[in-house]
Amino acid sequence: LPSRVILSGIQPTGIPHLGNYLGALSNWVKLQKSAAPGDELLFSIVGWHALTLPQDPAALLAARNDMLAVLLAIGIDPGRSIIFHQDHNPHHTELGWILSCITPMGKLRRMTTWKSRLAAARNSGSEDEVDESMLNAGLFTYPVLQAADVLLYKATHVPVGEDQQQHIELTRDLADIFNRTFKGTSPVFPLPIYVNTPSKRILSLKDPTSKMSKSSPDLQSRILLTDTALQIQSKIRAAVTDSIHGITYDPEGRPGTSNLLTILAACTDRDVTQVSKMYENQGHGTLKRDVAEVVEEFLKDPRAEFERIRHERAYLDEVARRGAARAIEHSERTMVEVRTRLGL
Ligand code: ADP
Ligand code: NA
Repeated sequence: LPSRVILSGIQPTGIPHLGNYLGALSNWVKLQKSAAPGDELLFSIVGWHALTLPQDPAALLAARNDMLAVLLAIGIDPGRSIIFHQDHNPHHTELGWILSCITPMGKLRRMTTWKSRLAAARNSGSEDEVDESMLNAGLFTYPVLQAADVLLYKATHVPVGEDQQQHIELTRDLADIFNRTFKGTSPVFPLPIYVNTPSKRILSLKDPTSKMSKSSPDLQSRILLTDTALQIQSKIRAAVTDSIHGITYDPEGRPGTSNLLTILAACTDRDVTQVSKMYENQGHGTLKRDVAEVVEEFLKDPRAEFERIRHERAYLDEVARRGAARAIEHSERTMVEVRTRLGL
């Protein structure tokens, strides 16, 4: 079997919540564990993507540092995987620019992420001035930068959330356009495969019809990696469920109750239907008590490790420096090929 290059990224936007952890980050740890010896893994903290929305510079700096500490705390091993800050490798913007020059505007306009930004801007604008001028160009072109993130390392597998699938299709399109436009003895870019993470969609604790998200103003709606046992208990106890007797897994009819079962199953690596059977004859009180216990058990070690290393700046800077050096060594090989093909 040819070896794989697995690449994924996450924005440095604050302490991850349980949804980020169960839906994305824990999967990275699993991939690292199950990887074959020849497989390469790259995990990028994508600071340049974060700039598409307004960021407070001090908060961004702290968030970049914290996200690196989180990745280490949950078990991403810098000896096994390349962990790096995207903004430490200027090749991302270089290739991003080059790809933007072969990207049809129409393809970017069809991105659902762009369309939803545009729709939101239209809803908030006055009737006369409802157009793209309210949005920055970075929001429009970031899928191209994302394509560069992937192609720069000739990644073959990209495990990301479902909302990113269209961007991986764009990445394949751009790789194909480049390969056909700038022909040589062999194509420069492999076409990467979108890997659907077996993502558990974790819902808001206060509004179980929407997903747990950092953008909700209600802090009770999400559990953070840094929450204490007491905070976890109080948030789970206050979670919105229903008044139906007994516990059943019914995501449509009982989203709040089912969400608690999903969390319980995910934190203990069990099947949700198997877990729900055990609670058939129990009440919400018992379920919530157990969920709080299990979540605390699940977060305890990573939280302690995170608190231990997040202020060890010298160590974190050294990990980041080494990760960037390895990433650049990798991407420089690609850029030499790319520049040669282009006549640069
Ligand atoms: P948020 O919605 O909190 O802003 P992001 O959009 O930054 O989170 O997502 C970061 C990663 O976490 C993505 O891979 C995304 O698919 C995953 N993720 C975010 N929220 C959830 C959730 N509630 N359940 C499962 N996965 C999630
Ligand atoms: Na989001």
